[in-house]
Amino acid sequence: MSGFVEKPEPLQVPGLTHLHTGKVRDLYQTEAGELVMVASDRISAYDWVLPTEIPDKGRILTQLSLWWFDRLADLVPHHVVSTEPPAGAPADWAGRTLVCKSLRMVPVECVARGYLTGSGLAEYNVSRTVCGLALPEGLVDGSELPAPIFTPATKAAVGEHDENVSYEEVARQVGAETAAQLRQATLAVYSRARDIARDRGIILADTKFEFGFDGDRLVLADEVLTPDSSRFWPADQWQPGRPQPSFDKQYVRDWLTSAESGWDRAGEQPPPPLPEHVVEATRARYVEAYERLTGTGWS
Ligand SMILES: Nc1ncnc2c1ncn2[C@@H]1O[C@H](COP(=O)(O)OP(=O)(O)OP(=O)(O)O)[C@@H](O)[C@H]1O
Ligand SMILES: [Mg+2]
Repeated sequence: MSGFVEKPEPLQVPGLTHLHTGKVRDLYQTEAGELVMVASDRISAYDWVLPTEIPDKGRILTQLSLWWFDRLADLVPHHVVSTEPPAGAPADWAGRTLVCKSLRMVPVECVARGYLTGSGLAEYNVSRTVCGLALPEGLVDGSELPAPIFTPATKAAVGEHDENVSYEEVARQVGAETAAQLRQATLAVYSRARDIARDRGIILADTKFEFGFDGDRLVLADEVLTPDSSRFWPADQWQPGRPQPSFDKQYVRDWLTSAESGWDRAGEQPPPPLPEHVVEATRARYVEAYERLTGTGWS
């Protein structure tokens, strides 16, 4: 079972057309054709969008994405046009709204991995490969890879997990030249970000980018290098051979799978609301991730 415990209704904003309600973000289009991405305080875990929000999460992740876009701009242009919410938008959209150039999206989830875990580990355990790329023997959950790898996935239908595909499959779908551009940009951006995060005591295990075309120019889109699109691990707790604690969601996961929550992860019932102490601890982790990465205080 998965999905929304309670799916929110889109807001009616004059001049904006609602396009999509994602797990975490709401998408609108302006009359000029620009894309408006509004990050909510929703949080997901175990494939569920939980019924409890984490205060400030939307603003923290939006500001983090912007901070990264700035630090990557010499590697690849990004899609942000303005951080000013459109006229008539609710006041609480401030700080969590990105007005973006609407791009012709490349239908590939561009994943870079520097460490082995998740779906990469599952494939490795069967075939010693990830997305068809051969890897050395002896790697375990959380191992650092000899070098970062491009492990693309294709977007699955709503509710399904994305499917890992080989580089050759991407080249078949989008053309050899675009595939090469995606791989090059993905690995360049990942490597830059991994080094920045490492200096601040955070392991960027893997991350997902989306790109689109503005004419024939490849542009970095969506959100970038947030805890929602990436695996961040506290470096001081990294210990290959077991699942690594998640920087942001560990309290949520631990509580949901504890006896206290009363929730059966394998059952049919949606997860219950989070107690205040879990909300507070989780909010503090997002603030900490922001502060450690950017080196500036969250106000
Ligand atoms: N500049 C852009 N131009 C056009 N589409 C974009 C741009 N940036 C991002 N997108 C698209 O906007 C959508 C964002 O949706 P969002 O990620 O919120 O929900 P989702 O992908 O349906 O679900 P999930 O919450 O699982 O990611 C994606 O389909 C993404 O490809
Ligand atoms: Mg998405």
